[in-house]
Amino acid sequence: MSVKPVILKLGGSVITRKEKPLTANLRAIRRIASEIASAETASLVVVHGGGSFGHPLAKRYAIKEGYKGRSSQAFGFAQTHQAMVTVNKLVVDALISQNIPAVAVSPSSCIVTKSGRIQTMMEEPLKKLLQTGFVPVLYGDAVLDLDLGFTILSGDQLIAYLAMRLNAERIIVGIDVNGLYTADPKTDSSARLVKHVTLKELRNMRQQMKEAKVPDVTGGMLGKIAELMPPIEKGITALIVNAAKPKNIYKALKGEKVTGTFIEKG
Ligand code: IPE
Repeated sequence: MSVKPVILKLGGSVITRKEKPLTANLRAIRRIASEIASAETASLVVVHGGGSFGHPLAKRYAIKEGYKGRSSQAFGFAQTHQAMVTVNKLVVDALISQNIPAVAVSPSSCIVTKSGRIQTMMEEPLKKLLQTGFVPVLYGDAVLDLDLGFTILSGDQLIAYLAMRLNAERIIVGIDVNGLYTADPKTDSSARLVKHVTLKELRNMRQQMKEAKVPDVTGGMLGKIAELMPPIEKGITALIVNAAKPKNIYKALKGEKVTGTFIEKG
């Protein structure tokens, strides 16, 4: 039986400078590439986010909302995709520099969504890449959509989909905070890190927020985690760690003890 892959997401907030449009954090990209190399994971898929590359352009041209038939918007789609290709090249270059056989796989070329959700993916090249020992590198992208014309596919939706389709061993999500907090750690000093959480507990947290009619008090983290629920339901675990802190991605890949949020079916 073939080895189950680990799916690793690198958040856009880690690999780019969020406040500066089209600016990569090359130091972070290179450090993480060297951590991935040292970990020597048997089978690995990397998915990265958009940060200051994809998001500002996607917002300016309202790509997520769909194609309204304006040529300026089509130009915006092309620019958003190209910005993602640019940052993807930086990630793939850094991995190759570490002797990792990384190969870019462009989601817009193999995935079609329907109302924003993945409808079909041409999976064969990706599966074959993995079987041959390559490290495929995908990303959140501007993609064609059956209902909307086009939209934005987030890296978070993509990792959940890939985890299930590729029968992943586990999911690791590297972001710029330590994990899921009881409140937004960036604005609330009483926020506590949730180190371990089950699906049932997550559902309760969401329900409580819904009943209290408050927005996602965790600073959007609970929403991100909601995407991961289907693979977790299938028994695939997820670990959220702070990838901006050196060694965390290495430790997570190695299965060593690391500060973060561990999510399992329970
Ligand atoms: C977004 O991907 C990609 C585009 C905006 C084109 P993600 O939503 O996964 O990016 P981050 O990690 O939040 O930056």
